[in-house]
Amino acid sequence: MTKKKGRLEFIQMKQAGERAAWITAYDFPTASFAEGAGMDMILVGDSLGMVVLGYEGTVPVTMDDCIRHSQAVRRGAPNTFCIGDMPFLSYQVSDEDAVRNAGRFLKEADMDAVKLEGGRRVAGRIRAITDAGIQVMGHIGLTPQSSGQLGGFKAQGRDPDSARELIKDALAVQEAGAYALLLEAVPPELTEYIWKKLEIPVYSIGAGAPCDGQLIICGDMLGLFQAFTPKFVKKYANVAEVEIAAFKEYVSDVKQGVFPADEHVYHILKGKEEDFAKMLKEFE
Ligand code: KIV
Repeated sequence: MTKKKGRLEFIQMKQAGERAAWITAYDFPTASFAEGAGMDMILVGDSLGMVVLGYEGTVPVTMDDCIRHSQAVRRGAPNTFCIGDMPFLSYQVSDEDAVRNAGRFLKEADMDAVKLEGGRRVAGRIRAITDAGIQVMGHIGLTPQSSGQLGGFKAQGRDPDSARELIKDALAVQEAGAYALLLEAVPPELTEYIWKKLEIPVYSIGAGAPCDGQLIICGDMLGLFQAFTPKFVKKYANVAEVEIAAFKEYVSDVKQGVFPADEHVYHILKGKEEDFAKMLKEFE
């Protein structure tokens, strides 16, 4: 059994130049496969709204959705550092809300940390949550909960003005006490600058290689999420193709009467055949 990594191990990995590999998961089997494959961390992302629940975005996802899925992930990956993603409106309204909801991830789902989106504008919330003793990962760049304000699911920080704002956000997140920062969909040149500038670990999803590790969404890399595929995704499998082929074969087997076959059924207990036939006669 591998020992669960914590904040110190992630700092040691950063110092040693070892990159962390992490993935999103929302359910027990995926989490247990991820742990078995040696993932350094798992994010129970609010992307579950799109990948699992069929919403067009992450905004409708609730705290209860996140808690339920985080619990399943923890059961599947008891020895992996797991991060609960704070859904829209679970931290925007007040420090009290933010602390209470962040705390739910620890108390009800045994998460190790929480992640929330935003830079300077949520610095106060990050401070309030960390002051309550909860580890927070920041998340800037393309922040899906505010994709409306950002003009859609678009790369950020590609021009000097918006890159400058992201550098200020990154510094504010660190200053507020976050233990790590996730950059989403920003140019690798900007990632490298922020990575070198900050002391805390910096991770990327669609933000290039020069940083402390990579996150990928399981539905994207497995070829399960069909609505769209961001440029930054590498598809490692086409699970949808495998599932669809299996479902089609099953439909055909049922229609043709070839499933279930003899090996798929439970026969009357040996020696009880005559009693069984007698019992049926009671109904004639
Ligand atoms: O919800 C999620 O999976 C995320 C990633 C897109 C970073 O927040």
